[in-house]
Amino acid sequence: MKITVIGTGYVGLVTGTCFAEMGNQVYCVDIIEEKINNLKNNIVDIYEPQLEELVKSNQKKGDLIFTTDLKTSIENSDLYFIAVGTPMNEDGSCNLEYVFNVAKSIGEYINHNCYIITKSTVPIGTSVEIGKIIQKELDKRNETFKFNLISNPEFLKEGSAVSDCLRPDRIVVGAENEESFKIMEQLYEPFIRNSYNYVFMNINSAEMTKYAANAMLATKISFMNELAGICDKTGVDINEVRRGIGTDQRIGFSFIYAGCGYGGSCFPKDVNALIDIGKTHNSPTEILEAVNSINDKAKMYIPNKIFEHFGQDLTNLTFGIWGLSFKPDTDDMREASSITIINSLLEKGAKIKAYDPKAMKIARNIFKDSIDYCDNRIDVLKNSDALILITEWKEFRNPNFELIKNELNNPIIFDGRNQYDKIQLNKLGFKYYQIGVDDC
Ligand SMILES: NC(=O)c1ccc[n+]([C@@H]2O[C@H](COP(=O)([O-])OP(=O)(O)OC[C@H]3O[C@@H](n4cnc5c(N)ncnc54)[C@H](O)[C@@H]3O)[C@@H](O)[C@H]2O)c1
Repeated sequence: MKITVIGTGYVGLVTGTCFAEMGNQVYCVDIIEEKINNLKNNIVDIYEPQLEELVKSNQKKGDLIFTTDLKTSIENSDLYFIAVGTPMNEDGSCNLEYVFNVAKSIGEYINHNCYIITKSTVPIGTSVEIGKIIQKELDKRNETFKFNLISNPEFLKEGSAVSDCLRPDRIVVGAENEESFKIMEQLYEPFIRNSYNYVFMNINSAEMTKYAANAMLATKISFMNELAGICDKTGVDINEVRRGIGTDQRIGFSFIYAGCGYGGSCFPKDVNALIDIGKTHNSPTEILEAVNSINDKAKMYIPNKIFEHFGQDLTNLTFGIWGLSFKPDTDDMREASSITIINSLLEKGAKIKAYDPKAMKIARNIFKDSIDYCDNRIDVLKNSDALILITEWKEFRNPNFELIKNELNNPIIFDGRNQYDKIQLNKLGFKYYQIGVDDC
């Protein structure tokens, strides 16, 4: 198939590359010239396991073409995927300006019948609006090309995006006619050859399905963080509770880890967008509003523990940070808990030394020269008054605690991801703070 993917970010680049991997001819289009030039030279500006190799091999075999020339890409392909960003507006609603700009360009350039597929996460009714914008441009040109609108939300996870995309759990397709369902079935057949996990529905339902999935996962996290608050005050260990309920097959183990809040490019903005959709349709979203505010509190859990321990004035104190990205295996720092935690410590006069295996470049853009950047996890410890674990990268999972104790000024760990064994740490003489566990 001949495909154009518009927007070459985490979603567009990964899905475009994976389509090319299956032998399709794919144009990946972006408006940022530098990004496209880098990609042409196999330089991938985001960290995503396996992605760089696949970009390289698919460009080499000629199936993957990076360009800023949307017109030529559209003229030479039949399926157009919209994968541009849908960030959050200040009032929490979804910003659709990038999506609608793309729709207008598609309307200006199409020269044959085609399929227009929305991969970006968009509010209910957006695909219909996209259709109207395209039709208006066609009318201006007196053209009557037929275009089929499809919603095909993306469920890949940053950090395992390539493998999620190559082996998806399910393919959700919202469309208006058989022809559209058929073409999506053909496109994804090599990806779900063994399972036939298509979920076909109408376009509005597909748009809602994506929000429902993210909101459900965010809800699970906030639910556990709410319980963590109770556990903290009652001598209960949230880790034990998690093990106790996760074994119940109706509940399961995923997304029930208490921690210092969820971040990333999706959960915060999608929960907010769904709240806004509820408001627009006069339909209350009380659970989602609680999910949001519990998450804000969760991001302050570690700073509050630090204030309890050291007091409100942190001048002359240095905190070593392990992990800055919003989760392991990505360099993405959008809405990362590290930003809230570090800023609230800086406000109280603290010094910060930080290390992340992949997010240092992005962190420098965010924190500029307000913090010290370390080359490795050990440098973080030197002359620090406590260690704070924010992102559970594998290299932080099983550290040498004797070394940590020797390097830190005080044997104190604030663990935002409940990674360590409190009994072991207490034996070694650490003061160990976790989320939802009695301090010890
Ligand atoms: N990141 C994720 O894990 C993830 C997962 C599932 C769904 N989504 C959704 O997918 C969409 C894209 O997310 P992302 O994280 O890939 O965003 P991103 O910010 O990483 O990438 C968006 C890209 O679109 C480009 N762009 C903007 N306007 C353009 C235009 N007119 N023409 C061409 N390119 C243009 C930008 O330059 C940027 O490179 C969002 O709606 C998001 O909610 C994201």
